[in-house]
Amino acid sequence: MKAALEALLFPGGLPSWEAPELTSLHKLPPRATLERPEQRSLDGDWEFRLSPRPEDALSERARWKHVEVPGLWTMQGFDTPHYTNVVMPFDERPPHVPEANPTGVYRRTFTVPRAWRRRRIVLGFGGVEGVLHVVLNGEPVGIGKDARTPSEFDVTELVRHGAPNELAVAVVRWSDASFVEDQDQWWHAGISRGVYLYAGGIDDVFARGGADGSLAIDARGAVRARLLDARGRTVLETKLPAETGLRGARLWSAEEPSLYTLVVEAEDGETASCRIGFRTVEIRDRRLLVNGEAVQICGVNRHDHDDARGRAVTRGLMESDARLMKQFNVNAVRCSHYPNDPYWLDLCDRYGLYVVDEANIESHAYYDDLCRDPRYLGAWVDRVQNMVERDKNHASVIIWSLGNESGYGPNHDAAAGWVRSRDPSRPLHYEGAIKFDWTGGRAASDVVCPMYADVDAIEAWAATPTDDPRPLILCEFSHAMGANGGLADYYAAFERHGALQGGFVWEWIDHGIRVTDRKGGHHWAYGGDFGDVPNDANFCADGLVWPDRTPHPALYELKFLARPIRVEALRGGRFRIRNVHRFAGLERYRGEWELTVDGAPTRRGRLPALRVPPGGTLDVALDLPAAEGERFLTFRFFLREAAEWAPAGHEVAWQQLALPSHRRRRASGPSVRPSRHGVFEAGPVRAEVDLERGVLAQLSTGGRKLFIAGPRLQLWRAASDNDGLRLLPERNLGFALRRWLELGLDRLELRLESARVRAGGIELVHSAPGLVTHRHSYRLLASGELVVENVVDLAAGLRDVPRIGVGLTLLPGLERVTWYGRGPWESYPDRLASTVVGRFESTVAEQYVPYILPQEHGLHVDTRRLSLTDDTGFGLEVQGRPTIGFSASHFTAADLFTALHTSDLVPRREVFLNLDHAQRGLGTAACGPDTRPEYRLLEPSYRFGYVLRPVSAAPPPRPRRAP
Ligand code: GAL
Ligand code: MG
Repeated sequence: MKAALEALLFPGGLPSWEAPELTSLHKLPPRATLERPEQRSLDGDWEFRLSPRPEDALSERARWKHVEVPGLWTMQGFDTPHYTNVVMPFDERPPHVPEANPTGVYRRTFTVPRAWRRRRIVLGFGGVEGVLHVVLNGEPVGIGKDARTPSEFDVTELVRHGAPNELAVAVVRWSDASFVEDQDQWWHAGISRGVYLYAGGIDDVFARGGADGSLAIDARGAVRARLLDARGRTVLETKLPAETGLRGARLWSAEEPSLYTLVVEAEDGETASCRIGFRTVEIRDRRLLVNGEAVQICGVNRHDHDDARGRAVTRGLMESDARLMKQFNVNAVRCSHYPNDPYWLDLCDRYGLYVVDEANIESHAYYDDLCRDPRYLGAWVDRVQNMVERDKNHASVIIWSLGNESGYGPNHDAAAGWVRSRDPSRPLHYEGAIKFDWTGGRAASDVVCPMYADVDAIEAWAATPTDDPRPLILCEFSHAMGANGGLADYYAAFERHGALQGGFVWEWIDHGIRVTDRKGGHHWAYGGDFGDVPNDANFCADGLVWPDRTPHPALYELKFLARPIRVEALRGGRFRIRNVHRFAGLERYRGEWELTVDGAPTRRGRLPALRVPPGGTLDVALDLPAAEGERFLTFRFFLREAAEWAPAGHEVAWQQLALPSHRRRRASGPSVRPSRHGVFEAGPVRAEVDLERGVLAQLSTGGRKLFIAGPRLQLWRAASDNDGLRLLPERNLGFALRRWLELGLDRLELRLESARVRAGGIELVHSAPGLVTHRHSYRLLASGELVVENVVDLAAGLRDVPRIGVGLTLLPGLERVTWYGRGPWESYPDRLASTVVGRFESTVAEQYVPYILPQEHGLHVDTRRLSLTDDTGFGLEVQGRPTIGFSASHFTAADLFTALHTSDLVPRREVFLNLDHAQRGLGTAACGPDTRPEYRLLEPSYRFGYVLRPVSAAPPPRPRRAP
């Protein structure tokens, strides 16, 4: 083996891993994924050892250990993962890499079936992170470099029949290829996808089914083909090559993913098959058309990531991603930034997801260099070709992407030219081509696909007349890092302009890696947690779902915005239900409605059968009683029958409409007079103002106290990822967070200016000189309600603060939270579209949102009233005047701001209640536009009020439970 390995590691005497011109050696031409009856898996237990350098792999005496294939040695106890976004993990310049270059050698034996004697035998690797060198029975086989497409080798001449074969593989971690695999994700190494053998001569199939039922089939090594429908009936038979057609073909779309099975046959009876669909993709009049219809892209970017296995994802995990996407109304996925396991595309075909398939090219650290470096020209074309050839039969793939963040140069145009000739049936996508000029780059991109453009910029583009036929589809937007907002404004812009056809949220999964800490607990590690330097900290934790695929609150917002059904109010108790599908009717759903008055359900009913064609509407009349109080009408729609991706009864859409209402009167009545010492009493209720310190020191009923500390002005929140990159302070310039810290908003020192006891109440004035003045007054009504009015005046230089509100510390035990306002999940000024107004119940502990980096969370804006009570019903009730934002927590802002992982947080027993008049929206400034001005706190002065009331009996009727 040694000589063979040496020959491969040093072809021509030079290192294989520092030769960009060498994209592979002795690899078979790339070809379409096919199912073959005679394919054998070589996955499972392999022997493994790791050497510090490629050279050492030749002389290594270390003991063999065992690893699972597929698997990454960086996740299997050898060597560690390393996270960087843009920069390379080492200093060497392309194509050179460090001397220290971990090299893994794998080996195992296999036998082949007898029947394979006189047949061609192919050995394939689905994907290998690092440069792959293959040795079989002591002979060199070949080299592969594109980590995310297969490397297949013809081993017919080398295979032993009737005896065990010895397969050895050396994988070199760093290489010239690393510079074009510089995606923003963990660096790993190892055999990440399946290894297999097959026998047979069928090499390739390329089938193109069109929306008119036309079908063109080319194949290498096959002479006949059969087409089977979903029930397995043969609907077409033909010789190959063929230009034929299927009358009455059912078309494929993400809404109705009809598939056929294509079986091709060789002269000797060998067969292979794949699933295909009939559909047409075109770009015309600033629209992307699928089967002639302008489809709205409600997409996400997805990386391969498993919190225990890294990039070596399992089928089960891919299935759960695809199901979850469908359940959340996602209809498109960009395979950022490389071809995924082909099984992912099978799922997209089956469940119905439009795919932007992306070539495995990102040269971010050498952004504009390698795309014009002739030594890398081959790599560009090779990687694009590897993708197109492998995935060309997948109906779900509607667009080819030439890669990500690699500048724009001749290497791109070469690759684009190759695709245009090989597969003219799909448009091209490349962000680098349009980055600096949205009218340019037409040779390499058929869509204007910017990343992180703001709403105003895309609307201005859409409003400018042009003869450019390209639509705009954001390849990345709405950076979902921690608490983020602003998605609804993009969706509104997409609705206003046909040329804005949606986009792909960045991104689907938080790339946290699960590690057990010293205390035996678990946390999700990010960059730097493995001693990996340089790193980009938690910038890889920017998904809509946690690594275990639990949805972040923002995913509900996406689900709502991407819902297939809309409802609007007409006059006279009539409502219009609109089908926003392009291909499917609404027959598959059933609808319900519910009327609430002040949050209490008062009437509900079923909607009539939803016979609504794509794009159509149905008007319904509902008999809704008038009532004293606030009325909301909520529609909900569910799957009638189970789909492949969700059970029957799954909720696909909801929408709440506010009906004309008579608001009930708010707290009023005679007030009681405070004592000279600042004490109010009304029946069992007692409120004490400490006139020395100028605080509402205590509130009690029947002698039971509520406070540890009374309301105190707060301008600070536990900064979110999008307020500023806390762990990357060198990049914090210009971020809101930096300014807030410089102003000291996190440690605001308020001085009592005056405390006045009047007949009607107590007035207090605090100030933090040069920053803010807070006037607050307290008035106890005879009913036991304490009315608090506030005026906050900000100093001239102080605008755009994170919050205007007060914080209270309550005694332990007030664990039960109920509220009437927006829910069930959290809401922020720029992320509330998906919430409805209702009554909700939760616990303080459940209010925590465990972002991988602890931060601001849990706000509920527009709250009419809330209560925090213990098991007996004792506690505090708060009413907004008219509404208030609240969050309840067992952590202080300081706890959250200093903790590096959720597992570092130790919940306190007391309850921190924040009552906010206003909070700054969340925005997406960690990567993209900051919070829009309409969600910022830009006024010089704010006025707000709320009412506090101690309660001792169980609060009113059973509310709906928040998830
Ligand atoms: C984009 C890039 C992504 C990711 C994202 C930030 O520039 O294409 O790979 O880095 O920004 O999270
Ligand atoms: Mg990048």
